[in-house]
Amino acid sequence: MTKPTATPAGAPTTAAVPVCDPVAILKGLATLRRLTGTYPVGHPMVEQRLAELDELLRQHLAQTSPIRIDVVRGAVHLDGIAFSSESQSTGQLVQELVALGIHSIHIADGVASGELLTLARYLWEMKELPAGTSYEAQLLERGVSHISLGRLVPLDTRWRAQQWQERPTGPIDPDYAESIMMAQQTFEQVASGRTLQSATVRDLVQLLMFKVARSNAALSQILAVKQYENLTYCHSVNVSMLSLLIGRQVGLDEDTLAALVEASLLHDIGKTRIPLDVVKKPGALDKQERRLMESHTTFGGEILVQTDGLRPLTPLVALEHHRTVTGGGYPDLGDGAIPHPMSQIVSVADIYEAITGARTYQSPASPERACLILARLAGEKLNTSLVKTFVNAITFFPIGSLVRTTQERLAVVVRTNPADPLHPVVVPVNDQLNRDGDEFDTALRTDAGEYRCHVLETVRPHVDTFDVREFLPSLAA
Ligand SMILES: [Fe+2]
Ligand SMILES: [Fe+2]
Repeated sequence: MTKPTATPAGAPTTAAVPVCDPVAILKGLATLRRLTGTYPVGHPMVEQRLAELDELLRQHLAQTSPIRIDVVRGAVHLDGIAFSSESQSTGQLVQELVALGIHSIHIADGVASGELLTLARYLWEMKELPAGTSYEAQLLERGVSHISLGRLVPLDTRWRAQQWQERPTGPIDPDYAESIMMAQQTFEQVASGRTLQSATVRDLVQLLMFKVARSNAALSQILAVKQYENLTYCHSVNVSMLSLLIGRQVGLDEDTLAALVEASLLHDIGKTRIPLDVVKKPGALDKQERRLMESHTTFGGEILVQTDGLRPLTPLVALEHHRTVTGGGYPDLGDGAIPHPMSQIVSVADIYEAITGARTYQSPASPERACLILARLAGEKLNTSLVKTFVNAITFFPIGSLVRTTQERLAVVVRTNPADPLHPVVVPVNDQLNRDGDEFDTALRTDAGEYRCHVLETVRPHVDTFDVREFLPSLAA
């Protein structure tokens, strides 16, 4: 038997008990694989190596079963512990395995030498085998039940996911920029354990209601596809503006609107208590992380209920904004607990905002696609009449959207036609996104009653310096 050359990283090397050596096992397997590809069945070379590997495994399985060998970022791990090895050939061995798409080999007690031989041949032939069937199924088909192979699906895929900025990078409305900065400071203060200042919140609500909401440019930037990963503070500002839009449409009075803006601004404040690597984690969360993430609702309720000077519904909205109109969602508040109408408004705005924003693992969706998703959630999760109100208010092609028309031209939406929301007024732009012609009403028809032009889709500006303000008249304050 080969003397083990590897030891667990950081472990004393003087251990009297022989250490299970994953590198020796991998080496034995790699050699056997090559031999089965070169020599016929029963060849003495194959038989000898098989017997050696069999013996090695038997010794190790007597100490520990199953043997779990994983290759994580190029390093060999045994039972989740990294191994260091002086052997030069280890790197090559590992590369060989990874090139085959294998990151994991688990071997259970009772493994027969015939199974080892089958595995070696399978590893030799696997490049030619049809893709699509799991390793498990293919090995079982060949009578191998004590060995399993695995492909590592990295949980942290950030290294290969697209990196987005955390806030708008191009020219943005100055009041909108100020509100983002104030929200950032507020959230960071709470994250660092300081008390939420209700006076700052009140100032921010005023700024949002009386300045940002009156800027066409800001609203269009919030409604359009967002090429940044708006994690919490930008998201919160955006959700509050979208909630205000819905609130105005359903005829809430100014005082209730102010309460709505405050509640929506702080709906995700509980995320300041969740570790950032969980909040930012791309892709699916495991059960424990999901439970932790979901607790931002109860954390939010707690933070807000302890803050003096806030409006009474603000903690409730933070608690309820992930609950559905059919009494589901989280947190569990008991059957039939239907969220407050204010929470229902925030839910619609929250989902639209999340879908049209970027994530490391997904590109932002266009407004029209986001509207279709909202429509699908209406009735089950979201209040149907609020979804209708919102979709009608923003139209499929919000002001400021960059769109492609049937004339294969790019254009910026500058006005919408309330009677014909799918046919807005646009300004043509060239490939550099500079104005390239006069305003054009796509609702106009020919004498035969046909549209001269349709808007096909929203497109993402290819430059982040695209400034919609050039195209939009600002509304009087
Ligand atoms: Fe949330
Ligand atoms: Fe949210």
